[in-house]
Amino acid sequence: MRAEAPGTAIGRPAIVPNPIMGTHAATDRAPVVDAADASAADRVSEFSGKLGLIVGVANKRSIAWAIAQATAGRGARLAITYQGRFEEHVHELSEGLAHPALVLPCDVTSDADIESVFAKVDQEFGGLDFVVHGAAFAPREELTSPFANTTREGFRIALDVSAYSLIALARAAAPLMEKRGGGSILTLTYLGSDRVFPNYNVMGVAKAALEASVRYLAADLGPRNIRVNAISAGPIKTLAAAGIGGFSTILNVYRDRAPLRRNVEAAEIGEAAAFLLSDAGKAITGEVLMVDSGFHITGM
Ligand SMILES: NC(=O)c1ccc[n+]([C@@H]2O[C@H](COP(=O)([O-])OP(=O)(O)OC[C@H]3O[C@@H](n4cnc5c(N)ncnc54)[C@H](O)[C@@H]3O)[C@@H](O)[C@H]2O)c1
Repeated sequence: MRAEAPGTAIGRPAIVPNPIMGTHAATDRAPVVDAADASAADRVSEFSGKLGLIVGVANKRSIAWAIAQATAGRGARLAITYQGRFEEHVHELSEGLAHPALVLPCDVTSDADIESVFAKVDQEFGGLDFVVHGAAFAPREELTSPFANTTREGFRIALDVSAYSLIALARAAAPLMEKRGGGSILTLTYLGSDRVFPNYNVMGVAKAALEASVRYLAADLGPRNIRVNAISAGPIKTLAAAGIGGFSTILNVYRDRAPLRRNVEAAEIGEAAAFLLSDAGKAITGEVLMVDSGFHITGM
């Protein structure tokens, strides 16, 4: 899905392409020729020597993949996990990174898988600076039928994969982060945790549990210098989003009503994630950062 280009009506600055952020407003000033190179160099050094684990890459549209690109592009060395059927995709994507990632299988509902991922990361990296949690799932029928019909099993699965897994990953990551003097954990949530969106159903309940878990983990792990935050992303057409009935209507409503009058791009979530994961965000924890073109402030 591409972001809608905002109009260039009087009073609005022209929009020019930007390879990092997709689009940005032009200013009256002529660009300083070397500024782009200088900031690219700064970005590369921002994560150099940092070690990260990314959970939740299915394909090139995955938000977790955008975060992998944003952090690896700034110099991070990554381990990326895949869920069974995505093995080939994740290997192919990893090979395109500046430093190919350590690719490992992980079903987040399996304690044994989680244990073996962190044992391998410890063995290969000797520690960890950041973890990105981008795993979420609810059975399709829970996202198409009335919320009152949510089944006990559908509820259990959605909460296990989408919320409990953050706690399990954070617990396993903490000792590796302590070896590096601390770390940063980031998960991905959606405004459906707080407001009702058609068909989001039990995922909204899972995201509410996820956001509460962010706060409890932040309080618990803060004394070990481990930060825990979430990005609440605007809607993006990904594999997970395709399972939500009427998702394209949500995209249209955001485009029409969000203050920026457009949807967000995965690369923009990657940029915001890089900020929270890097030392630039080192005093931020327990936070849910809204990256949604401002939609969350609207009343109607
Ligand atoms: N796309 C959106 O509109 C949107 C908006 C806000 C938040 N989010 C959140 O962003 C995160 C990433 O989703 P996405 O939109 O990039 O879709 P995606 O389908 O690319 O990613 C979802 C990932 O969850 C993984 N997953 C599911 N069950 C798993 C399991 N048992 N073990 C391990 N991994 C498992 C899948 O393999 C996949 O990689 C999710 O938490 C999602 O809720 C998405």
